[in-house]
This record gives sequence, C-alpha cells and structure tokens, in this order.
Amino acid sequence: MNSKFNFQEYDRKVYEYILDNIPDAITIIDKNYKTMFFNKTAEEYYEVSREEIIGKDLRDFFPNSLLPKVIDSETPYHNIYNSPRENSYTVISAVPLYNKDDELIGGLARDRDITEYVKLSELVKKAQINLEQLEREYSKVALGESYFSNILSSNTAFIKTINLCKNIAKTPINVLLYGESGTGKELFAKAIHYESGRKGNFVAINCSAIPVELFESELFGYEYGAFTGAKKEGKSGKFEEANGGTLFLDEIGDMPINLQPKLLRALEEGSVTRVGGNKQKKLDIRIVSATNRNIKRLIKEGKFRKDLYYRLDTFQVNLLPLRNRKEDIILLANRFLQQYCMENGINIIQIPQNILNILKNYSWEGNVRELRNVIQRAVILARENNKNQIEKEHLPTYLQNIIINKQKYVDNDIQLNTEIGLESTIEEIEKQIIKEALEKTNFKKTDTAKLLKIPRTTLYYKIEKYGLKNRND
Ligand SMILES: Nc1ncnc2c1ncn2[C@@H]1O[C@H](COP(=O)(O)OP(=O)(O)O)[C@@H](O)[C@H]1O
Ligand SMILES: [Mg+2]
Repeated sequence: MNSKFNFQEYDRKVYEYILDNIPDAITIIDKNYKTMFFNKTAEEYYEVSREEIIGKDLRDFFPNSLLPKVIDSETPYHNIYNSPRENSYTVISAVPLYNKDDELIGGLARDRDITEYVKLSELVKKAQINLEQLEREYSKVALGESYFSNILSSNTAFIKTINLCKNIAKTPINVLLYGESGTGKELFAKAIHYESGRKGNFVAINCSAIPVELFESELFGYEYGAFTGAKKEGKSGKFEEANGGTLFLDEIGDMPINLQPKLLRALEEGSVTRVGGNKQKKLDIRIVSATNRNIKRLIKEGKFRKDLYYRLDTFQVNLLPLRNRKEDIILLANRFLQQYCMENGINIIQIPQNILNILKNYSWEGNVRELRNVIQRAVILARENNKNQIEKEHLPTYLQNIIINKQKYVDNDIQLNTEIGLESTIEEIEKQIIKEALEKTNFKKTDTAKLLKIPRTTLYYKIEKYGLKNRND
C-alpha cells in the first residue's frame, strides 16, 4: 500500500478543516490574483460564497483588497486597520507565500472582525466626551475657580502636594503620579489639565487595557487605507485628540514592554504618523502619567524601559494612601454623605461617632474610591430603612466585623484571647499600638519612638519582630 501522503487530497482537507473553524476570515490567492481559498468565516463576513469566488480574480470582488498589493510589492502587511463597509471593522494581516525554491506563488490574508470592540470603544468615547464637557462647565460655573477645589484634604502633607501640583500645572513639564488605586490620580491629572489653561482636550488612555493589535491605530490613528472600501477620511488617534491639551497615560507601569518603544518614539519626536499614512503631524502635548507600580523595580526586572521612564518622570508626585491621612477619612466621608443626600433629595443623614470610629480604623485598601462607595451604599440603605443616621447595619459586613476587634481595645475592654494565651494577646495589642503610632507619624521612626516613649533601638527591634517594616504589613 502506498503510505505516502497525498498532499492534494488529504493535507488539503485537513488544512481546510482547520482554516474553516477559526474566527478569522482567510483568503488565499495565487500570484495572478486568482482566488484559491476562501474560508467559511470569510464567506459569512463578506457575504460572498466560495462557489462564486474560487478560481476568479479577487479584484473583481474586492477592488481595493490588500492581497494584490502584497503580491505586487512582495511585502507583508501586519495589523492594518480597515472598515470594509459601514459599521464594520477589521484588522488585516497579509503575507506573500513562497514555494520551497523561494519563488513567489501567491498570498494569504487574515482579517479579524473587531466591530464589537470598535463600537464599544466609540460608545465609551462618546460618554467620556459628554462627561468631560459637563465637568468643564461644572468646574467653571459651580466652583467659579480652580478644578483643584474638587480635591479635598485636611492633611498637611497632602495639602502641600495639592499646592505643588497647582503650581506646576501652568508649566509644560510632564508629571508622573504615584499612588495606590483610588488615591485620586485621575482627579489630579484632570486638575492639572484644567489649571494649565491649555485649550486642547484632556484625553485619557488606560495603558494596560489596549489590545496589542490596536495599539498603534488607537494612539496614532489611521489613514484611509487604499484597501477594501474603508472610511474615507481615516481616523485620528488619542495623540491627535490631545493636541494642544493633555494626554493622561493611566496605569503606565502595566504597559507591555514591546509597545513601549512606539510610545517613546512619539514622545521623543513630538509628532505622530497615522497608520497607513506618510505625513508626520507635529503635536503639542502635555503628558501626565499615573501608576501604582514601583517603576524603578520594573526597570530592574526588565519590564519597563529606562528611557521611557525618564521621558515621563520629569516631575514626580506621590499621593498618600487614605489610611495615612486619617483626618481625611472624616472630611471625605462627610462630603460624600452631603453629596449623595443632595443628589437623591434626602434630608441630611448623620454619621454618628461610633461609625466614624469604624471608618477611621479601617485600612481602606481601595482608598477614596472605596470610601465613596461605602458612604453611597450606606445612604441608600439608611433611606430605605427610614433612618436619619447611618447605622452599623448599613456598612458592609467586613467593616462591621473590623470594629469588633478594634473596639475591644479602643474602649479599654481588653479581653484575653483564650486560644493564644496571655503573652500572645499582649503582643497582638502591642503590635496594633505600634502600627498605629507608625501610621500617625507617617512611618518616621524617630517621631514614633518619641510618641511611644521608648528608645529607637527598641522600636527597631519591635518593628522587626512584628513585621511592620512596610506600610501594608
Ligand atoms: N482628595 C479627594 N477629594 C475628593 N474626591 C476624591 C479625592 N481623591 C479621590 N477622590 C474621588 O475618588 C474617586 C477615585 O479617584 P481617582 O482619581 O479615580 O483615583 P485613581 O485614579 O488614583 O484610582 C473619584 O471619584 C475621585 O473624584
Ligand atoms: Mg484611576
């Protein structure tokens, strides 16, 4: 029996089966543009049947197709953004095909349908633009002055940070905002933009969320490619939209390393070229970036480019976590309370002292955002229960529980934990007291030792013993 593969028959069937069952449209033509293969996805997407097109010149069906260009120029194209018909978007890659003697025999195109993604991102953009306009108006009319007055604090160090940012807002320097999630990085970025007096837009990009394939067209835009009936005017990218304004690069520390050179080049040249275009456009953009990652460490680990870091980090701002500015917890809780009561037409509800104690003693990993959500939820629950003050039951259970432990020693109602015995119970309490003293002094060891009235060496020993070296321990 002949065990040799019959390429024509067997292999072709296997390949066709595989190609028919992937979500990308696949087209193969020979070097005379004759269509050799057209998979099931392509049939559905372009509404042309295989019977119609196989053996025919592809250009008769798709006059602007990319594949003939690939054959003529013997150049591969990767991730070309395209809109074959209204309200339909694809990303196309097309490559020349060679036989084993390296002679050109045809070309293969792979089109990926990204319509859903594009529609979604248009929707988000529209919503963002509306919000932006509202915010601009609001800050002008209601506040009469600076957008910075949206940022509340009664913590000395934090107020210093606010004033510093206000001062540098009017300069063209790039700013890098460091801070945990919910500490107000985006709020600061916007305040810096509106205070700068720059006439252009505030445009935000979440650097961790852009699909690799769309990165360039999203940031730099694309030109009306001479490919299948694309949108006539092409489309601007985020950089162009931010021209004359501010580009906010959020979560910059999470940007994939392979995309960083493209961003760096645009920043260095101060200009962009749309995908599929050849005209460089000079831009005037202020960059504000933000991250909760330790960029210096990322650089050491090879996950972030040093040169990009130096571009972005002309001026660095550290936003303190909420747990290290306890006075702001009360200030913000009351402000959010007032806001939600007004928005919902509710008579002002109170926050009694025992609830304020709970709020003050919690660690707020989600910072101001988490506090705002907790207050919003509590206001709604208080109203539903016809209460004119927030009660413990209106807080999420993790907050209700936290106090039970803390309250014991806050109220001097210290109890033996029978499971661990006297010594360990005392140690637990000691750890708690030292931790709070450290937070109070913003982790300044000399001040903490003074506050506790113990020698510094003893403090160091105890910090080591209880593992309190890092803020988050
Ligand atoms: N100091 C502050 N004063 C008033 N609102 C604040 C303050 N800090 C943060 N917020 C609010 O908290 C929420 C989260 O802030 P955001 O800027 O999105 O944080 P981040 O970008 O750091 O995650 C937003 O609703 C913001 O308006
Ligand atoms: Mg944010």
